[in-house]
Amino acid sequence: MIKVTFIEPTGNTRILETPPSGDMMHLALANGVAGILGECGGTCGCGTCQVHLDEQTLKRIPPAADDEADMLSLSDYLTPASRLACQIKLTPELDGVIAKVPEVQG
Ligand code: FES
Repeated sequence: MIKVTFIEPTGNTRILETPPSGDMMHLALANGVAGILGECGGTCGCGTCQVHLDEQTLKRIPPAADDEADMLSLSDYLTPASRLACQIKLTPELDGVIAKVPEVQG
């Protein structure tokens, strides 16, 4: 099991334990994490699953691919820590991740 912490836009913290399979967006939707919309179903086509990851995790996981970076570049909430949750695989390297959900997706 790996531990994934989401900080919802209100500041509410959700700590989830999950087997290392699937992706962060589907984990968030399955558990009703506020602020993650996932409108395209995880095809990197909507940008409504943005999260801001903690620095330690960003160093442990592969960088955004071109299609993810292109989609993120359209966001008003882009930061150096921005990633699309649908593109983040739930691997053992993700254990302990803290993902802050922006106030608004888009
Ligand atoms: S769910 Fe659409 S880009 Fe992630």
